Amino acid sequence: MIKNFLHVSDFSNNQINEIFDIASWIKNKFYSNENYLPFRNKTMSMIFAKPSARTRVSFETGFYRLGGHALYLGPNDIGIGKRESVSDIANVLSRFNDIIMARLFDHKHVLELAENSSVPVINGLTDFNHPCQIVADIFTILEHRKTLDDLKVTYVGDGNNIVHSWFELASIIPMEFVCACPKGFEPDQKLLDQALMSGLSKISVTNDPEFGVKDADVIYTDVWASMGQKEEALERRKIFEPYQVNKNLIDIALENVLFMHCLPAERGVEVTDEVCDSKNSIIFDQAENRMHAQNAIMLKLMHNKYNDFTIL
Ligand code: CP
Ligand code: NVA
Repeated sequence: MIKNFLHVSDFSNNQINEIFDIASWIKNKFYSNENYLPFRNKTMSMIFAKPSARTRVSFETGFYRLGGHALYLGPNDIGIGKRESVSDIANVLSRFNDIIMARLFDHKHVLELAENSSVPVINGLTDFNHPCQIVADIFTILEHRKTLDDLKVTYVGDGNNIVHSWFELASIIPMEFVCACPKGFEPDQKLLDQALMSGLSKISVTNDPEFGVKDADVIYTDVWASMGQKEEALERRKIFEPYQVNKNLIDIALENVLFMHCLPAERGVEVTDEVCDSKNSIIFDQAENRMHAQNAIMLKLMHNKYNDFTIL
């Protein structure tokens, strides 16, 4: 039984399909305003060492609407790994809270948090990956396409934490995944090798965005400089210019290609307004589904741990 959610590949193929079912089910409940409060009297600490709009608001709103109370601990609050050790924080919060969500810089810290916590820990992004985002993204693709069969996703941009979670996903769901990025900005080779070893998906990395997006069902991009790299932003703009997602690139893919971005976007930089606001764009469905997908993940982990409510 899964205790924590730190990587998309913590789920098996069956488990992620169950998450899709729970996400649809809980989304319908929210739309029909049903009184379903499985997290009554439960609390969640949300540790943010980095800024956030979607992750904070979706977790806090979702947890509250399921009957619980979420506490926001910002970058100046606990100083995880600096003011206090990761393991002491894990032990202390486990005494107060029923679940912990953390957005941290160092991936090792989220692993250590989970190892030392007696309550479930959810990874809300590290420098290495962003699993909640990619679960919400694939759920959004499923909603739009109705099937994940014969899916080709092309990511264009920096080989960053978002790409890493796509690799994790490609090791549990069969697909074609292409990462088109500039030389020197490729994703983690070890993780790519692991995903390839699963033998489930066709995964490749190219430096040619036009070749990469041919026949793509989905074109995905993200900022060229992630949180923690913002001082490199200007320098990166020159290098990444050929990787902008604009109308020319969209026209090379399939006619009904879906455009996705985890947001926040730097409009006019990695993607044009024309693409962001086009009929192909599903960026706000993606953002909304963060809440439904995460609620599904929390329901699953809380059910495994406390077993004091029913799901589905
Ligand atoms: N996509 C995402 O995680 O957004 P925030 O950084 O605003 O939480
Ligand atoms: N790659 C981005 C994702 C933001 C949701 C970052 O880490 O800043």
